[in-house]
Amino acid sequence: MPERTPYIAANWKMNKTVAEAAEFVDALLPLIAATQCDVVLCPSFIALNEVVERRRGTAVRVAAQNMHEEDAGAFTGEISAPMLVELDVEAVVLGHSERRQFFGETDEALARKVPAALGADLEPILCVGETEAARDGGETKAVLERQLQIDLAAVDSIDLARIVVAYEPIWAIGTGRVATPEQAQDACAFIRDVLRMRGAAANEIRILYGGSVKPANAAEILAKPDVDGALVGGAALDPVDFAAIVEAAR
Ligand code: 13P
Repeated sequence: MPERTPYIAANWKMNKTVAEAAEFVDALLPLIAATQCDVVLCPSFIALNEVVERRRGTAVRVAAQNMHEEDAGAFTGEISAPMLVELDVEAVVLGHSERRQFFGETDEALARKVPAALGADLEPILCVGETEAARDGGETKAVLERQLQIDLAAVDSIDLARIVVAYEPIWAIGTGRVATPEQAQDACAFIRDVLRMRGAAANEIRILYGGSVKPANAAEILAKPDVDGALVGGAALDPVDFAAIVEAAR
């Protein structure tokens, strides 16, 4: 099996002004200077440029938290892939559960956004995950399979290896109720199986876990064979905590 480079991403959500983002980057860079992991920062749109500029010359990569599927047009308040690429943004989070839950993001829209990101050479970080009711009802795998099938329907199997998938069970996001390492492993292994069935080079795809990842629980989750990294919310707001999670991924 090919070695997959661990991938640790900080999703700041609607946190950090431009000044606070700059302060974070300056504090983080010396703490992670020796890491071999892929480290990705996902600031708000308005802080993207500042973070891109501050990390120049380092291995840290930058992702947006959303984008529109069209390149341009009458879509007030939206941001397109070419706008992100112009800033040297390298990746984009798509389908985060907060966008699905609060902003009406649909799987059908994601089926257009994922190919649009790939077409612009942005790495999609596609988020999938089940609600608490779905887990309790034994429907976790059905939900994940349906999300992956629809969201990736228009992506050629050869291009699936360019995608990062984040398994984020909704009941674990911002709740402090982290999935057990076994639950994370089972879901990530299942996602890999679904991608393999789609004809992907599934052993090359990074599959992340997200949901209440902290310095104290990161190592045991990241030690699981199919968990290739983490998408971190709350604990990624503090550079020392985030650096500790990066360290735990080795
Ligand atoms: P928390 O780490 O705050 O639970 O958030 C997880 C998440 O949604 C990352 O995208």
